[in-house]
Amino acid sequence: MLMKTCTPSSVLLVCLGNICRSPTAEEVFRQQAAIAGLSIKVDSAGTGDWHIGHKPDERAQRHAKAHGYKINKLIARQVNNDDFRNFDLILAMDAQNLADLQALKNNLADTENSMAKLALFSEEDPTYGGDDVPDPYKGDADAFEEVIERIESSAQAWIESWKAC
Ligand code: 4NP
Repeated sequence: MLMKTCTPSSVLLVCLGNICRSPTAEEVFRQQAAIAGLSIKVDSAGTGDWHIGHKPDERAQRHAKAHGYKINKLIARQVNNDDFRNFDLILAMDAQNLADLQALKNNLADTENSMAKLALFSEEDPTYGGDDVPDPYKGDADAFEEVIERIESSAQAWIESWKAC
């Protein structure tokens, strides 16, 4: 199969805790990429360290499962310096996550063009472009549903942008 030049070979999805938004995005992205026939390594991580080693939040697991996404086996980890070298693209769920990633990247001595490109997860999305995927941790069931809706939409937008290359 001819590899599309615009498709990154690896994508890291990042939120704060790596127990709600980014594990959901990891599985949505993985499924959508497979359906599109794109070969992409997909992983997720958090900027924070509170939930390292934990499974996704029970509410996130439940809402994901109801939409066909099984995330119960994923284990939270924190973003590390190697991620900026090992991934082509790192996508932040919200503007704070993006600022935190940019600060981490700025602290590394490596040259810019060998490092992961950073972007907001919603960047390519015609509906939600520029928006945060709002943190659902202190929210209700609707907040978790909104996370799924936004993630499906924004992941699809990235995949469509690569298919067009
Ligand atoms: P996430 O949600 O960033 O989507 O995984 C959160 C999970 C945990 C916390 C905040 C947000 N926390 O403060 O522990």
